[in-house]
Amino acid sequence: MSINSFNPPLRTLMGPGPSDVHPRVLAAMGRPTIGHLDPAFVGMMDEVKTLLQYAFQTRNSLTMPVSAPGSAGMETCFVNLVEPGDKVVVCVNGVFGGRMKENVDRLGGIPILVEDTWGDPVNPNKLEDTLRNHRDVKLVAFVHAETSTGARSDAKTLVEIAHRHGCLTIVDAVTSLGGIPLKVDEWGIDAIYSGSQKCLSCTPGLSPVSFNERAIEKIRQRKSPVPSWFLDLTLVMGYWGGSSKRTYHHTAPVNALYGLHEALVMLQEEGLENAWARHEHNYRALRAGVEKLGLQFFVREDSRLPQLNAIAVPVQADEAHIRQLLLSDYNLEIGAGLGALAGRIFRVGLMGHTSNLKNVLLFVSALEEVIARLRLPADRGGETPARRA
Ligand SMILES: Cc1ncc(COP(=O)(O)O)c(C=O)c1O
Repeated sequence: MSINSFNPPLRTLMGPGPSDVHPRVLAAMGRPTIGHLDPAFVGMMDEVKTLLQYAFQTRNSLTMPVSAPGSAGMETCFVNLVEPGDKVVVCVNGVFGGRMKENVDRLGGIPILVEDTWGDPVNPNKLEDTLRNHRDVKLVAFVHAETSTGARSDAKTLVEIAHRHGCLTIVDAVTSLGGIPLKVDEWGIDAIYSGSQKCLSCTPGLSPVSFNERAIEKIRQRKSPVPSWFLDLTLVMGYWGGSSKRTYHHTAPVNALYGLHEALVMLQEEGLENAWARHEHNYRALRAGVEKLGLQFFVREDSRLPQLNAIAVPVQADEAHIRQLLLSDYNLEIGAGLGALAGRIFRVGLMGHTSNLKNVLLFVSALEEVIARLRLPADRGGETPARRA
């Protein structure tokens, strides 16, 4: 048997993640591996925490990357904050809200759903009504940027409602961190998780999380031990915590953390507000190009995510074939619809390093050529928010 080294094709990653990784991040990951308790590494960990506090706009000392992908960040929040019998309101307007519900189920919690049509944001009035009808709810969980639909929810308002009803909040910021305004302290978010591979443009596999004092107090008051050893924050903090005496918890993914450090340094160099503005600017360019092709956005304009654009599949089009042609002929990856939206939308990411005008032009011109090649009808139609309603 002779298997050669793997050399991946050079793609432009315009799907729902991972996004293109900047050469500076890849170069950082190729630096020599050192021990994960080496003083030099520990110093870098402190910098990663500081840089993440900046990205999240928080002073929370419990801010760190979990050594696993965004799904593990999600589980970290739920396994630490939910105990059997706890009532948790979960807002579901796409795939990832559904996963939050599954987490609550598996932990023996009682999920109470606030459901919205996929493609719509979470409706704050429904959350308010639900909390009025259920007085003993402990937690409210929702997804800030629903990657499966491209909808942005009003995190600030949802947190404010939850707090008014005495609930803590868990917020999924996997696709929002670094791409759209997100202010953990100002909005009072209690527990939040994200991912390295979206608007931070690092490689996949790390999940930044942050917990405020109220959330930590809830963990301290638990009646039962956290049911996951690996994700138990009281243990992980011995390694990532503020004390100079770090204790072994697990072997940190050393080189992956070099990459996250570099990605966050780049975010700091650009400035968070500038990064948000860049994502918005490039979305507007994409919108102009897409509309010129006669295609429709799936999400209402006022709740669209600039970094994740759901575009309705044109009538009579085979969406998998279009994606396959973009990949084979243009080395361009875009995403398919998930779950109920499979076959109905394309998901076009403009996240992190991918979010630039060159990529907007590449996508629009490639799609135009493919549409012409397939001789799709001039009335492209597709599913718009108005038609969905
Ligand atoms: C909103 C949201 N939450 C959670 C996840 C899970 O992250 P990961 O795939 O890194 O485990 C994703 C991934 O796409 C996501 O978009």
